[in-house]
Amino acid sequence: MTTRRNFLKNAALTAAGVTIVPRHVLGRGYIAPSDKLNLASIGAGGKGWSDIVNAWNNGAENVVAICDIDKERASQAIGKWPKAKVYNDFRRMFDEMKGQIDAVTISAPDHIHGVAAMVAMQQGVHVYVQKPLTHNIAETRRLTEAAREYKIVSQMGNQGASLPEQVQMMEWFDKGMIGTVHTIDVWTDRPVWPQGIPVPTGKPARPSQISEQDWDMFIGPADFVDYDPLYHPFKWRGWWNFGTGALGDMGCHMFDPVFRVLGLGYPTEVESSVGQVFLQDWVPEFIPEGCPPSSSSRLRFAASAKNASPVTLNWTDGGIRPFHPELIPPDHPLGSDNSANGVMMIGTKGIMTCGVYGVNPKMYLNSGEVVEYDKSYDASYDGGRKHSKLPEHGHQVYWTDAVKAGFGSDEHKALTSSFDYSGPLTEAVLMGNLAIRSYQSLVKGGNGRNREFYGRKKLLWDGPAMRITNLDDANQFVTREYRKGWKLM
Ligand SMILES: NC(=O)c1ccc[n+]([C@@H]2O[C@H](COP(=O)([O-])OP(=O)(O)OC[C@H]3O[C@@H](n4cnc5c(N)ncnc54)[C@H](O)[C@@H]3O)[C@@H](O)[C@H]2O)c1
Repeated sequence: MTTRRNFLKNAALTAAGVTIVPRHVLGRGYIAPSDKLNLASIGAGGKGWSDIVNAWNNGAENVVAICDIDKERASQAIGKWPKAKVYNDFRRMFDEMKGQIDAVTISAPDHIHGVAAMVAMQQGVHVYVQKPLTHNIAETRRLTEAAREYKIVSQMGNQGASLPEQVQMMEWFDKGMIGTVHTIDVWTDRPVWPQGIPVPTGKPARPSQISEQDWDMFIGPADFVDYDPLYHPFKWRGWWNFGTGALGDMGCHMFDPVFRVLGLGYPTEVESSVGQVFLQDWVPEFIPEGCPPSSSSRLRFAASAKNASPVTLNWTDGGIRPFHPELIPPDHPLGSDNSANGVMMIGTKGIMTCGVYGVNPKMYLNSGEVVEYDKSYDASYDGGRKHSKLPEHGHQVYWTDAVKAGFGSDEHKALTSSFDYSGPLTEAVLMGNLAIRSYQSLVKGGNGRNREFYGRKKLLWDGPAMRITNLDDANQFVTREYRKGWKLM
């Protein structure tokens, strides 16, 4: 196996007049670290642009292929790398370019992540996959296993994971400064896109740059629906067919510091409740296709090796904030500067808070002391990291470095969001969605406010077996039915 250590040894040999063997001599699966990586991008518009440009790292790597269903949306990437082959079907891209792609950034909508990453991993292509890792829990579990099985260097796109702030939070907790954590509040102002609205019924014309086949690829494994600007771009987030709602959008960023600091595992139980929508007096809308306009979920976790107490995590979205704790002065914002998003870990000796991605960490100790983050920690923290000044703190470049160093290398093990970590994290986030969908859609008879929603209960989760044990119907949301012609390989 080619590791960074071997590379350094090779470099020394080169200096002594011995040449490093090029990629084609080493064969598939081996990347001579003297080579640039050949990168591909799936979903190169929107967030995908920053993923691929950050991984390319000012020409440190090559971009050889771009796959997008909307050439206009992806035009910045197509223009930047004119020699890259352009596709609208990632299956064809991997087929035609077998052996020519080392690694891929996957930044298409959530419903595409699982199927695209599996095709890549089966070819030995290393993957950077946007958050949430997948659309449902079963896909996430499978991707986590597959990364080990196919020896893939993986990273999820929750870029806050590479921030020094999260290292500082771990240190504070490990020193026992807030004691044992029993309660966590996490909240967001998302959705900031239309959500909880009726299903579109018009048939607006597709924009000219999106062909029928492009649209078919947008749909991918989801249920077919006609084009609508309420789906593409960006707004797909608000529909279960494609997206994962406010929780799926922000949960992986905001559960991240909690998981990292406390070392949590699978949740043991979950209960959710969602906001209602009224378009006419007294008659609540029933829109199970759409993610709700607001929701709250409560997840419970067992004690972990790092935290001796079971933990209750309260999530709220749609702008609903937690109540202000007595320990935090009333004029102090919670989490972010405007309190709109944040995390509070409430322990026996104090409260640790932060904003999205783990920024602005702070502690309010029972002693009355307030501990602020010292910015000089950014420069002084070690962990062997060199990229904290790169865009997104080097989250993509840590990954390309680890791909070159090889599976199992020190660089790989140092990744902050490889699937061994981000898989269980994503599963916990998607657990909330499972409960929301159970709450929302299990309807039996009745109408208006008299409907019977028998899924509105606390759900018990057997994490290892991936099963709800007290409401069999809820298990339909562990996975999804794929459209004909699609499967998770
Ligand atoms: N880490 C972050 O901070 C962050 C921020 C924004 C979005 N995201 C994540 O990035 C992903 C994309 O979100 P976005 O806001 O950029 O969405 P978007 O709709 O703006 O962009 C998605 C891109 O993927 C393309 N696309 C759609 N279906 C495709 C397919 N089947 N194959 C190839 N390309 C396809 C679209 O044309 C578009 O260029 C989501 O998973 C989202 O959660 C992460």
